[in-house]
This record gives sequence, C-alpha cells and structure tokens, in this order.
Amino acid sequence: MEKKQELYHGKAKSVYETDDSNHYIMLFRDDTSAFDGKIIKQLERKGRTNNRFNFFIMKKLEAAGIPVHVEELLSDTECLVKKLKMLPVECVVRNVAAGSICKRLGVEEGKDLNPPTFEFFYKDDSLHDPMVNDSHIISFGWGTQEQIDEMKALSFKINDVLKALFDEAGLILVDYKLEFGLYEGKLMLGDEFSPDGCRLWDKETRKKLDKDRFRQGLGEVIEGYEEVARRIGCPL
Ligand code: TMP
Ligand code: ASP
Repeated sequence: MEKKQELYHGKAKSVYETDDSNHYIMLFRDDTSAFDGKIIKQLERKGRTNNRFNFFIMKKLEAAGIPVHVEELLSDTECLVKKLKMLPVECVVRNVAAGSICKRLGVEEGKDLNPPTFEFFYKDDSLHDPMVNDSHIISFGWGTQEQIDEMKALSFKINDVLKALFDEAGLILVDYKLEFGLYEGKLMLGDEFSPDGCRLWDKETRKKLDKDRFRQGLGEVIEGYEEVARRIGCPL
C-alpha cells in the first residue's frame, strides 16, 4: 500500500491517502495535546505506544463483534484503516465520575456511576467540544436517530468488553471517548482507543495511568501507558 499525501493533521495523529480509494494510513505522532491544543508537547515513544495499544484494543473489540476501521499494523507508528466518513460527535461513557462531569455537576471524583452514563459532545475545538443531545444531532443533521441508537448500543457493548479486560489487569476503566464513522453506509468504530482518550486507574491504589498524568503534570506519562499495555498483554 503506497502512502500518498497527508489529508488531515490532527493534534496527535495524521491521516494519509493511499493508492487504494477505500483505505487510509493513520499515523500516531509523539505530539501530546491537552486543553484543546493549548498545551502540546512531544513525548518520546508515544506514537509507537498508542499505535500498538490501539491496534491491540481494536482487534479485541473486533473479535467481540464490534465493527472497527483498523485493519493492519503497518509499522511502529502506522496502521491501515478503512476510509470512514466520520460523524462529528464524540461518545463518552463514564463508569466513575472524573474530569468534566465533576466540574459540570459538582460531583466528587471517584464516585461510581451505576448504571454508567453516556454523553455526546460536538467535535469542535474552537467551541471546546460542547456537550450536545440527541435532538441537536438530528436537528443539525450530524446523524440520524438510528445512528444515535447504534452509537449508544455499540458504546455500551464496548464498555462490557473493555471493563472486563482492564478489570482482569487490575485496572478501573473510569471513562472513555469513542468516535464513529460510516463505511459503505455501515456504522463503524473509528479514530483510536488509547490512554490518550480514556481514564484508567489502578484498582488498589487508584493511581492514574492515562493522559490525566499529562493534563495534571503528574509526570511519567508514557511510563503509565506502558504499564497498562504490559498488564493487558499488549506487545509494544
Ligand atoms: P472529559 O472528562 O474531559 O469530558 O473526558 C471524558 C473522557 O473522554 C476522558 O477519558 C477523555 C476523553 N476525551 C477525549 O479523549 N477527547 C475529548 O475531546 C473529550 C471531550 C474527551
Ligand atoms: N484531546 C483534547 C486536546 O487536546 C482534550 C484533552 O485531551 O484534554 O486538547
């Protein structure tokens, strides 16, 4: 597969066209962003770690019956993905309160959310990804009711699979963000699943092992990601 021009340069990843009109190459860079790109730093080994982590998780999800865009690992930092038409929303599932929900609703970090909550955010950094509801998605034409229902159902199915996977590794899956897109009219999981877009805490000590280490200046960011990978048996 030949890599052609860069089509999209995100905060941490780039997407390239290929000589095949149905596929893209997704490149994980070492760039690490927080607060909608206000802080960007290079973290050694991050591109490689997230690429391998994402591939491992996506294949686990695929084996559990979730349609995913990731096909092949191409190099340390690149993977081959199906060319999706992304829906401009982010789906967030929360098992435990942390991050923005604590500020918004005045709840204490660490409160168990039972059943887990689901939230949609509109993808727009200049607006700081505002929270939106089903009605907004339909009225603004970002998705249909059927797609909304499917995104929610898939997000919760992914929760069952990943909560169990991380639990066995002594980790709490606190929350995570997913993005979906369409491939030949079919909804599929796109983007990535890595410690950049989820929160993972050690079950015993509640030590943070995700991007909050970067956001909160806790240090040893990639060491945290590597520890999670090691514990779930993901080769780096
Ligand atoms: P939040 O607490 O900031 O709303 O984030 C919830 C989870 O979703 C957290 O694991 C981080 C992830 N997330 C992203 O990766 N990118 C985003 O743009 C947003 C809003 C959340
Ligand atoms: N991914 C977003 C950003 O770069 C939000 C975050 O992770 O804090 O800025």
